[in-house]
Amino acid sequence: MDGNGRWAKRKHLPRTEGHTEGEENLARLVRVAVTRNVGWLTVFGFSTENWVRPRTEVRHILGLHKKLFGRVAELNELNVRIQWMGRPFDSPDARTPKYVQRAIRKAIADTAQNTGMVLTVAFDYGSHAEMVHAAQQAAADGPVTQASIESHLYLPELPPVDVMVRTSGELRISNFMLWQSVGAEVYFTDRPWPDFDGHELDAALALVPQP
Ligand code: FPP
Repeated sequence: MDGNGRWAKRKHLPRTEGHTEGEENLARLVRVAVTRNVGWLTVFGFSTENWVRPRTEVRHILGLHKKLFGRVAELNELNVRIQWMGRPFDSPDARTPKYVQRAIRKAIADTAQNTGMVLTVAFDYGSHAEMVHAAQQAAADGPVTQASIESHLYLPELPPVDVMVRTSGELRISNFMLWQSVGAEVYFTDRPWPDFDGHELDAALALVPQP
């Protein structure tokens, strides 16, 4: 969800306003995705690299995650189950503060019965950390194979990625779902995340080959 900062700058607003609008847009886009019968929507909310941002910005983004995970009534109305993936809370290098952990746990429990779209938020997430974690766990179990690594990814239930979206004119892949996106289509758009709307989603979905 790139480009919140640039969106705000263009409007002469502080960067934090861009993140606030980014969270609002995610809530809007979840609604649209449900109407398009998307089964799995996974978003990069905060990376293992994002902790070096200025403290006030990090605090603001953490507050937005608390807000997002607090949208339980909306998610239940939409029959959306929320999930989280990232460095396990008890791992030595994990950084997720307790109040965000609580919000995550509560949202997962309170939407667990929903049978529609699965919204996964990657928070304190990086593909490198995920793959190292999976390889270590797989090695502890026995011979390391593709299947054993797959079974130890943070959320083994996630299907392979059909289409990866990158907003705000960045023509590169980052540390996001690298294992899962072998074979994924990639949709690049110049629009910053707060302006990513249903038309954009449709254009991205149109890249997915139909069975
Ligand atoms: C990328 O824009 C955004 C982030 C790293 C922050 C996380 C995303 C949001 C706050 C929007 C969705 C909200 C939640 C709670 C999941 P940037 O700061 O890199 O913008 P720039 O590239 O224009 O500087």
